[in-house]
Order: sequence, then structure tokens, then C-alpha cells
Amino acid sequence: MSGPRVMCVGLACVDIISVCKNYPEEDSDQRVLDFYWQKGGNASNTSSVLSLLGAQSEYMGSFANDNEMRFLKEDFDSFGVSTSHCVTYNTGYITPTSVIIVNSQNGSRTILHASKNLPEITLDDFKAVNLKNYKWIHFEGRPSFNTPAYEIVCML
Ligand SMILES: *[C@@H]1O[C@H](CO)[C@@H](O)[C@H](O)[C@H]1NC(C)=O
Ligand SMILES: *[C@@H]1O[C@H](CO)[C@@H](O)[C@H](O)[C@H]1NC(C)=O
Ligand SMILES: *[C@@H]1O[C@H](CO)[C@@H](O)[C@H](O)[C@H]1NC(C)=O
Repeated sequence: MSGPRVMCVGLACVDIISVCKNYPEEDSDQRVLDFYWQKGGNASNTSSVLSLLGAQSEYMGSFANDNEMRFLKEDFDSFGVSTSHCVTYNTGYITPTSVIIVNSQNGSRTILHASKNLPEITLDDFKAVNLKNYKWIHFEGRPSFNTPAYEIVCML
């Protein structure tokens, strides 16, 4: 019997977004129209949306131990998304972050992604998950940094 929960495994990052009147000139100085932080990453976004749709949703991924991670954790909590199987790396790791420049003229997004050293979760981390409690699990994985993600969905 498969359980009631759904899990998304993959990236959570902080998107730091500046909405600009025009795309900036190099070495120039301008005020932005809007500025905000947002939780980003495909698996993290999907797990929040699934919770809004009424699923018992969980996100699994690696966490650094920094303020950006606490921002992400608070956002997951606010959507009722469990993070109980996330693995926290304590010292010397940083949360993946994207600085995003939005051009308000046409909505173009220029993304500067910083993924410095936070490891992906491992098979051993995943062995702590009791599969009986889940009905499907969505994996987003990469062979290494800076390579495209693969998506796999397991129905249990
Ligand atoms: C996000 O995940 C969905 C579902 O697996 C996939 O179709 C889509 O291509 C992914 N988007 C990005 C930007 O990786
Ligand atoms: C998911 O991502 C989209 C596109 O960035 C954003 O508009 C939406 O607010 C996000 N949803 C959640 C629940 O974070
Ligand atoms: C947006 O507009 C800028 C010029 O203002 C242009 O260089 C850029 O190619 C446009 N991007 C898109 C996605 O249309």
C-alpha cells in the first residue's frame, strides 16, 4: 500500500530579483523599480504548488546553515511543506543563489546563478526515507555542477 505523501527531490535556491526600468549599462548606477527575495528551484517550487493544490507535500534536498537557508525553510513552512528529510551541511557551505535582473520593458530575465559547494543528497541520505509513506516521488538530479537536470518520477 502506498502512503499519502508526495516528495520532490532537487534544488532549492534563493532568487534575488531586481526589476529594472531598462537593462543596465555595464559600470552604471540606477535605482530599481522593485526588489525582492523569492524561493526558487524547480523541486522547491513544485513542492509548494502541490501543497497549495492540497497534497501532503515534502521537499528533500541539501541545506547549508546560513541565513539564506533560514529564509527558504520559513517559506517551506509557510506553505506547509515538510523538510524533515533534508540534510544540513553545517560549516563552510553556502545556499545556491541566483541574482536575477528583470527588464521591465519586455520581461527578459538575466540570471547569475551561484552554486558554490553544496553537495546533492546521496543514496545513503535517501535510504532514511520510508517509501511506504509516499505515493509518488519526483527526482531532479544532475551528474555534476553546471550540467542540465534530469527529471524522473516514481509512482509507488
Ligand atoms: C521543471 O520540472 C518539470 C517537471 O519535471 C520539467 O518539465 C521542467 O522542464 C523543469 N524546468 C526546468 C527549468 O528545469
Ligand atoms: C513558482 O514559480 C513561479 C515562477 O517563478 C512563481 O511565479 C510562483 O510564485 C512560484 N510558486 C511558489 C508557490 O513559490
Ligand atoms: C528585451 O529588450 C532588450 C532591449 O531593451 C533586448 O536587448 C532584448 O533582446 C529583449 N529581450 C527579449 C527576450 O525580448
